[in-house]
Amino acid sequence: MKTQYGFFDNDSKEYVIKRPDTPLPWINYLGADEYCAMISNTAGGYSFYKDARERRILRYRYNNVPMDRGGRYLYIKDSKSKDFWSATWQPTMSDLDEYECRHGLGYTKISAEYSGISSEVTYLVPLGENLEVWMLKLKNSSKKKRELSVFSFVEFCLWDALNDMTDYQYNLNIGETSYEDGTIYHLSRFRVEGNYLAYFACSNSKVSSFDSQRRDFLGNYGSMSAPEAVIKGKCKNSIACGWSPVGAHQVKVKLAPKEEKTVIFVLGYAEKPSDVPKTVKKYKDAEKVEEELGKLKEFWSKNISKYSVETEDDDVNTMVNIWNQYQCRTTFNWSRSASYYEAGIGRGMGFRDSNQDTLGFVHQIQGKVKQRIIDLASTQFEEGDAYHQYSPLTKKGNGRGYSDDHLWLILSTASYIKESGDIDFLFEEVPYDTGNKSTMYEHLERAINYSVTHVGPHGLPLIGFADWNDCLNLTIDKGKNKAESVMVAMMLVAAAREMARLAEISGKTADSTKYVEIAKSMSEQINKEAWDGAWYVRAFDDDEKPVGTSKSKEGQIYLETQAWAVMSGVADDARAKKCMDSVKKMLATEHGVMILQPSYDKFHPELGSITVYPPGLKENGAIFCHPNPWAMIAETILGRGDNAFKYYKAILPAARNKIAGLHKVEPYVYCQMIAGADHKDFGEGKNSWLTGSGSWNFVAISQWILGVRPDYKGLIVDPCVPKEWDGFEVKRTFRGCDYYITVRNPDHVSKGVSSVTVDGVKVGGNLIPAMNDKKEHHVEVIMGKNSQPK
Ligand code: GLC
Repeated sequence: MKTQYGFFDNDSKEYVIKRPDTPLPWINYLGADEYCAMISNTAGGYSFYKDARERRILRYRYNNVPMDRGGRYLYIKDSKSKDFWSATWQPTMSDLDEYECRHGLGYTKISAEYSGISSEVTYLVPLGENLEVWMLKLKNSSKKKRELSVFSFVEFCLWDALNDMTDYQYNLNIGETSYEDGTIYHLSRFRVEGNYLAYFACSNSKVSSFDSQRRDFLGNYGSMSAPEAVIKGKCKNSIACGWSPVGAHQVKVKLAPKEEKTVIFVLGYAEKPSDVPKTVKKYKDAEKVEEELGKLKEFWSKNISKYSVETEDDDVNTMVNIWNQYQCRTTFNWSRSASYYEAGIGRGMGFRDSNQDTLGFVHQIQGKVKQRIIDLASTQFEEGDAYHQYSPLTKKGNGRGYSDDHLWLILSTASYIKESGDIDFLFEEVPYDTGNKSTMYEHLERAINYSVTHVGPHGLPLIGFADWNDCLNLTIDKGKNKAESVMVAMMLVAAAREMARLAEISGKTADSTKYVEIAKSMSEQINKEAWDGAWYVRAFDDDEKPVGTSKSKEGQIYLETQAWAVMSGVADDARAKKCMDSVKKMLATEHGVMILQPSYDKFHPELGSITVYPPGLKENGAIFCHPNPWAMIAETILGRGDNAFKYYKAILPAARNKIAGLHKVEPYVYCQMIAGADHKDFGEGKNSWLTGSGSWNFVAISQWILGVRPDYKGLIVDPCVPKEWDGFEVKRTFRGCDYYITVRNPDHVSKGVSSVTVDGVKVGGNLIPAMNDKKEHHVEVIMGKNSQPK
């Protein structure tokens, strides 16, 4: 099995793929704001504006054979030999002499060499635009004069992606296009809604022919690999009126030996047809496109420069400084709505997911996070719980009944305030789903109160349809609605503790005492009811029986309640160590920590969809990457840096580059899960890109392992690293100041800070006070034996 497909080029902040036939499409996201374009290493993918379901611009065929069709295709045809190939390998899959794909931050470049012609296509979404530019550079590297035709091809989606793939009696009759001056307009639904359209233009070259009806370009029985128009060397200038709108141009290019030419295409979304020609013209020359590419690179460099590290481990540096932060912004933007594994139809902005996504992104742009928290809180019910998700286009919520959603709001709000210092946010008025408003503080109070007042027979929060683990559906079989979640109980403790601190710094002393009390009594309840002897049980089912106990044959131990017992402070020192030791013994593997063991072998209706999956996949015993960082954080709290870092490295995408053939998904971003030890493909990654793993892993490494953690009054420095490390450096922007932090570890401890010096002056403890003076500050941290935890 070939294991290496590419490498990291950190100087250019690019991942370089050297062969097109990656085990799965390796994709990139173009567009930092409202226009999203997913593109694979062979130019597959699609685009949408704001909402992957309602405003789908390009059609993509999920689960297609062959894999990864359609896309942003460019065919090159030699007029003499009649041979043709794709500049991006797909869809002709010709045997290219050279191939390279460079995924960069917000752009992708694919180059090829075939029969003496070099090509390089750069795809990007310029900042602030609702369009994508494809710039094709062609060079004649042969000794002969060459006459080529370039054919572009996209297939339009009829906007509503669900209808597009289901209702053919309707949608085969709504397609409409028009053509003017090298621009194909996609106008389906424009006659009804009149306020949006897509266009596909060639902005810098004469168009010799075009097609906008699919059958005219591909042929009735043709295919994307061998379109009839490309074979015949000419399009039919077709206009779609019904059937299947596409966009295809033919541009003739003559090249003398060594000569180079550039052909530029612009695909975009617009709300006024009259704006389009002006927009297209902006991109009529290569200099402008290069300039936009430069701006994009600068934009990304600036965003990710708010946190950077220099450690002894290159994989850590690569991921923390570049790719993990890039993924965090992508998940922040699109939640779980659209990836190569999320079809962009069922899931909008998830309440729990989006709250968690802010944790790994808040250091980049606080304003965006604040707005997101407001949008989420606006879908909260006055009772305190929340819609499960909302539509990005209308911001209207849907789905209800999960027991954890609302509690994440407290953690995201606290993390936003710690980063920004904006404590006043707590007293801003924010609407509920009904439109009635209260302060943000009250939103949080109601969230806690909901969980405090909805408890079951053991005095623990009812699980409802599910908690963080979507598949633990303990009430649907028996329908008694008595099942309880120990994880939510622990989250409630963590949330109440945070609320107590927020109340205290807001001068609400009585509230603070109340929340300390809530945390205390819920902790006692958990310790009384949910300790199994060597770990915490995961839940109680509808018959009041424990789930995740040594007494059952399968599903004896679950990861979530061990890590959260430590993170929330529910476990005392002895139980904390004991339960995390059980995790190490029973769940940890060389590919990461499994979510439970042993996996369920059969379907158990009383447990719900967790047992739908075969052993070792998804929530049934996979290495679920999202809760893995919880185990890392728990280990750092216990001071066991070697364990924490081992868990971190096991699922670190860059560290898995060397086993890319097994890992299969992209080695530059986290995936949702890696097949567990109970599965024959143990170690195989799945469902990449849009996952809470991105955000939580960033939190684990930056705030807990490297240990530079924003708090209300400043930055806490509390590293917990492998003992063998000599030290490391962190540069972090915090409330307008740049902190250059050097950590030394002369005694080779895992944890414990013996001194902190800020700008040459020793500070007591390990809090760097927020300076708020927009200046640079130099911090020296010495780790040492004196302060080792017991
Ligand atoms: C998926 C969901 C997330 C859920 C997790 C565990 O990643 O997006 O909301 O918490 O699965 O079930």
